[in-house]
Amino acid sequence: MINIENLTKRFDERIAVAGIDLEIKSGEIFGLLGPNGAGKTTTVRIMTLLSKKNSGSVRICGYDIEEDSEKIKELIGVVPQHMSLDQDLTGRENLILQARLHHLKDKEGMKQRINEILDFVELADRADDKSRKYSGGMKRRLMIGMALLHKPK
Ligand SMILES: Nc1ncnc2c1ncn2[C@@H]1O[C@H](COP(=O)(O)OP(=O)(O)OP(=O)(O)O)[C@@H](O)[C@H]1O
Ligand SMILES: [Mg+2]
Repeated sequence: MINIENLTKRFDERIAVAGIDLEIKSGEIFGLLGPNGAGKTTTVRIMTLLSKKNSGSVRICGYDIEEDSEKIKELIGVVPQHMSLDQDLTGRENLILQARLHHLKDKEGMKQRINEILDFVELADRADDKSRKYSGGMKRRLMIGMALLHKPK
């Protein structure tokens, strides 16, 4: 699923990622641990196409992050550390926005998929409340639902 070889990333003189190797298999749950400033977030940002590497190779589901970035965006789902909701929108509206960003069309069952996700994250009864009014855990569950909406691998 994820294959990283000798990945390096520098910010000016500072080395943020100093040549890491990682192999993560399908179905595996992997925790990347290390002290503050070790380069974990930088590594995840590179894997999720938010930052560019300096050298090394990163492959996701067999695709190269630089050559096949559009394909990789279809295959991954990301729950970021910080709030990625629009809190002026309801839970359902946040999911609709996410669906549109993934070019999911209503005739392809978008509404039904959104209802499935709302059931899965147990927010169906709160779907039409502004997400600002959700508890911390409910906001987190909505973000998980948004990351799973397009059925990432
Ligand atoms: N945008 C940036 N510009 C300059 N330096 C950066 C930037 N982002 C991260 N760094 C530096 O890269 C190094 C790795 O940071 P990173 O955020 O990847 O660490 P981390 O392992 O996620 O740490 P934490 O446990 O604190 O979240 C740190 O020295 C940090 O200051
Ligand atoms: Mg971090």
